[in-house]
Amino acid sequence: MAYETLIVEIEDYVALIRLNRPDALNALNAKLLDELGDALAAADANDKVRCIVLTGSEKAFAAGADIKEMSEKSFVDVFTSDLFGANTEPMLRCRKPIIAAVAGYALGGGCELAMMCDFIIAADTAKFGQPEINLGVVAGIGGTQRLTRFVGKAKSMDMHLTGRFMDAAEAERSGLVSRVVPAAKLLPEAMAAARKITEKSALATMAVKEAVNRSYETTLREGLLFERRLFHALFATEDQKEGMSAFLEKRQPQFRDR
Ligand code: HXC
Repeated sequence: MAYETLIVEIEDYVALIRLNRPDALNALNAKLLDELGDALAAADANDKVRCIVLTGSEKAFAAGADIKEMSEKSFVDVFTSDLFGANTEPMLRCRKPIIAAVAGYALGGGCELAMMCDFIIAADTAKFGQPEINLGVVAGIGGTQRLTRFVGKAKSMDMHLTGRFMDAAEAERSGLVSRVVPAAKLLPEAMAAARKITEKSALATMAVKEAVNRSYETTLREGLLFERRLFHALFATEDQKEGMSAFLEKRQPQFRDR
């Protein structure tokens, strides 16, 4: 499928989705968000995809929602269309793991998009920020909620209120990103992580996503029960028998998603 604002390649069961609006530092306009939703839904439905990597360019993952496109909109426009409301759904619905590979700017909606992925691998050039305050608005697709959960209230307030950027080292220290790598290694590292995930049982990777994400939605006691029931349920799968037999027989498992 050819997109105007994305480049999508599928190789070795990994869908690599690149945001591609170089003239606007991958600012998220309506076209890009629609296409991204379509690409994620297509990847989720495609048997040849077991993991997704979302990336931008060397200079920018995404510099936020498209300010030109938003600037003339009125309250009535954005409220009645529920601006950006539907755009997060494909990402939230996706059952397959999504890794954000971030180099350069991940600002505003760009930072929020990265945080909606399952984890973030950052280049040492990455800069994260929620500078919406400088435009007289606030984050709109989860920044105040997700950044606070990832880095805590103090840093989240600092970032949202001052609009300052966080570099890759601070982002790793604060728990926003899982690892930082030299810029030239970003894609190889993200693709290698994705390929590792493709070798697992998809039943188990789906269970991991559901269980970890549930930890943001519920109490510890309920979350522990949810996890334990998923753990129990996986004993009904052939992949559990295969994974444990393979360990005991000192060989690599051959998972079949059953
Ligand atoms: C539209 C953008 C853009 C954006 C950059 N560009 N960010 N266009 N929307 N968010 C465009 C510039 O207008 C410029 O186009 C080109 O990209 C290059 O940008 P420069 O500013 O010339 O580059 P540089 O000097 O290197 O500065 C990089 C930057 C700066 C620090 C990232 O561009 C910047 O501050 N951008 C805005 C960041 C921001 O406020 N993001 C939050 C948006 S609100 P021309 O045509 O002039 O060459 C938001 C709300 C989220 O995200 C709501 C939910 C989605």
